[in-house]
Amino acid sequence: MVASEKVVWVTGASSGIGKSLTKQFYANNISILATARNIEKLKELESQLKAKFPTSNSNLIVAKCNVTNLSEIDSLFDNIVDVSKISCLINNAGITSFKKINDNSIDEVNSIIQTNLIGSIYTIKKILPSLISKNEGMIINILSVVTKKVFLNSGIYTASKLGLMGFLNVLREEVRRNNIRIVNVIPGATETSIWSSDMLNKYSDRMMKPDDIAKIIVDYFMNQSSPVIEEIVLRPIGGDL
Ligand SMILES: NC(=O)c1ccc[n+]([C@@H]2O[C@H](COP(=O)([O-])OP(=O)(O)OC[C@H]3O[C@@H](n4cnc5c(N)ncnc54)[C@H](OP(=O)(O)O)[C@@H]3O)[C@@H](O)[C@H]2O)c1
Repeated sequence: MVASEKVVWVTGASSGIGKSLTKQFYANNISILATARNIEKLKELESQLKAKFPTSNSNLIVAKCNVTNLSEIDSLFDNIVDVSKISCLINNAGITSFKKINDNSIDEVNSIIQTNLIGSIYTIKKILPSLISKNEGMIINILSVVTKKVFLNSGIYTASKLGLMGFLNVLREEVRRNNIRIVNVIPGATETSIWSSDMLNKYSDRMMKPDDIAKIIVDYFMNQSSPVIEEIVLRPIGGDL
């Protein structure tokens, strides 16, 4: 990796929207650090991309990183990538449970909040000092339409995404003077493995496709202008499920 190279860090890159983002950044010659817990899936994606786009100038690094585990995040930047290379973080890793609050176990509560909220705060805290010292950068966060209206069976997920949104609202104002852009992407139903196979069988024709969501984000990243689009809301043409 050359000294001046700028790298986009995509969390949750092993499937769904994160996998589509990795593919499209790679196809557009943008260097990527693609992380998730499942390193086998990431390595398979790396081989597929290298075979499909042999002339890409993108430097793709795949690495295991559980966003809930601070020592895995530290080790990523101690051993694999210099944190100063990261110019953009995409907080995409996320989970849900599609249950009523009364039916959620405490373990489910902890893992949803740890992954979606605390994990995103950990990743931001890791790269923020470097972005501030460079006086530039972008943090893109994949939130959800649950931040816009009430969806049943999504109580803990909603707490995690609205909590993150509140944190990001404060962060945005704190880092404006450091030329750091905080961008929230707010998708509605998208056809990925976050949904059960029953829901996918019933509704996939009404869902957006992860490649379409990724294309909008990659186009946005590649065409930055002076005004900041701070929020991108994406819904299926037929509306919410
Ligand atoms: N699909 C939708 O309808 C929809 C709508 C609105 C928002 N979103 C948001 O979009 C984001 C991506 O979800 P998706 O729909 O693409 O679902 P997905 O296909 O299930 O992908 C989720 C990704 O997150 C990773 N992940 C989960 N826990 C992690 C952890 N602790 N550390 C690191 N990575 C972790 C998973 O990889 P590993 O298992 O390999 O770690 C996977 O790559 C999520 O934040 C989700 O809330 C989705």
